[in-house]
Amino acid sequence: MANMGYSTATITVITVLLFACLHIAEVEAEAKPKLGLGKISHLHFYFHDLLEGTNVTAVDVASAPATDSSLTQFGMVRVMDDWLTEGPEATSKMVGRAQGIYVSSSQEKLHLLMATTFVFESGKYNGSTLSMVGKNAVFDEVREMPIVGGSGLFRLGRGYALARTHSFDLKSGNAVVEYNVTVLHYSSPPRL
Ligand SMILES: *[C@@H]1O[C@H](CO)[C@@H](O)[C@H](O)[C@H]1NC(C)=O
Ligand SMILES: *[C@@H]1O[C@H](CO)[C@@H](O)[C@H](O)[C@H]1NC(C)=O
Ligand SMILES: *[C@@H]1O[C@H](CO)[C@@H](O)[C@H](O)[C@H]1NC(C)=O
Repeated sequence: MANMGYSTATITVITVLLFACLHIAEVEAEAKPKLGLGKISHLHFYFHDLLEGTNVTAVDVASAPATDSSLTQFGMVRVMDDWLTEGPEATSKMVGRAQGIYVSSSQEKLHLLMATTFVFESGKYNGSTLSMVGKNAVFDEVREMPIVGGSGLFRLGRGYALARTHSFDLKSGNAVVEYNVTVLHYSSPPRL
């Protein structure tokens, strides 16, 4: 019977070559720029949605024929340019805006589809944005909504927002909502 196995010398050569290749692959991986998606930021602010008064920040733009007779105002579409402030008072320092739309999108419960851009206008986040899209079950104590993206310091941002109604005026519909946002993003975003 012929010996079909490899000699010890051949095995040694193969092993050395294999490790050399692995080493080259490792060095190449290190040379590639790291994505640096290593930073988690926590933001805390208050959102003012004002339908009546001296400062109106949200306006109805569309509805369906049955919206007014619907218990959930199903079909209502509202555009907002809401204030974001540090504290709950309307006179508190403005840190940005929540721009976008919200839509009454459930026939049974008061659920809003939020399509919101948080546009930051102060401090190191000035000029950066976060995009939030999700279901806002407004009567729940705390609502969680996904942060699906961001720009500027928040490029490639992913995270979640927790919202709790701080005050709600039944007569005017004006609301102040507390937000905690947790977002994972670049530790040092690339320059534009
Ligand atoms: C709210 O309205 C008052 C009165 O018109 C105005 O002086 C104030 O600047 C407004 N605030 C904001 C943040 O737009
Ligand atoms: C935010 O950035 C804009 C544009 O660069 C600038 O005009 C504005 O003064 C800045 N605001 C603050 C509060 O730094
Ligand atoms: C936001 O975080 C603060 C501090 O941890 C906490 O007191 C508050 O209840 C939180 N609010 C929401 C809506 O998560």
